[in-house]
Amino acid sequence: MAALSPDGILLTGRVAVVTGGARGIGRAVTEAFEAFGASVAACDRIKANDVHDSERRLTMTLDVRDPVAAEVFAQAVHERFGRVDILVNNAGGTFHAGFADTSAKGERALIDENFIQLTAMIRRLLPMMHAGSSIINITSSEAYQAAPGFAIYAAMKAAVVSLTKSLAVELAPIRVNAIAPDALPTEGEEEVRASMRDEPPRLPPLGRLGDPADAAAAAIFLAGEMARFITGTTIHVDGGINAAGGRRT
Ligand SMILES: NC(=O)c1ccc[n+]([C@@H]2O[C@H](COP(=O)([O-])OP(=O)(O)OC[C@H]3O[C@@H](n4cnc5c(N)ncnc54)[C@H](O)[C@@H]3O)[C@@H](O)[C@H]2O)c1
Repeated sequence: MAALSPDGILLTGRVAVVTGGARGIGRAVTEAFEAFGASVAACDRIKANDVHDSERRLTMTLDVRDPVAAEVFAQAVHERFGRVDILVNNAGGTFHAGFADTSAKGERALIDENFIQLTAMIRRLLPMMHAGSSIINITSSEAYQAAPGFAIYAAMKAAVVSLTKSLAVELAPIRVNAIAPDALPTEGEEEVRASMRDEPPRLPPLGRLGDPADAAAAAIFLAGEMARFITGTTIHVDGGINAAGGRRT
């Protein structure tokens, strides 16, 4: 195998699919992948008015939980690019609610939003993947710790970690890894925090908040040649929160 070269960090000529690419981490990943040379097909249920299609970008507005719409997206990716080198399953989200107060409907929505759409997207795009492809699932630091008020979301993010390991073995030589973010300020993070009135924001051990681009940096590494022997693992992009057992100062 070739020796490492600084160019190994580039994604020149690769085709990436990013779910939830309109804002937050997904947007940071989309923009970073493009800056590092990839073409990106990004879907989101919201439309970012300042994002436009280009030679290297395809955007579609859809809810990834809608199987018909997601299939149309997959077809568009096929027609435009013909293959998928990188899939970042980033779309996801939650709301703050006590376990006993969560309705069956709310619970199903969380399961669909954070797990079922993700497995469906992998199955849907697998026929366009090949031995060098890389799947990156965005989980959460809450997969690794108690998350009162977010029990179903955390359980689904833990399921994503487990799925990542199983698929790394089952789908090899396609590589499958995860990123577990925390403390990366985004609109989604802000909306969740706003629903937790009594919880003051606290800092991770590094003493400051991160940035969505910090998750994008991990995605660039996992997507490319530098991570060619890495599969089935999770990179924690959380300023040390996981290392501290979930504690912040
Ligand atoms: N920001 C953090 O610190 C943090 C911490 C833990 C986990 N995460 C995870 O990172 C991922 C991105 O979160 P974020 O902080 O950027 O949030 P965000 O809400 O700012 O961005 C998520 C994007 O995904 C889109 N999206 C969500 N559900 C969708 C669906 N069903 N169909 C289509 N698009 C959908 C949203 O419209 C939004 O544009 C999520 O999976 C989240 O659980 C983030």
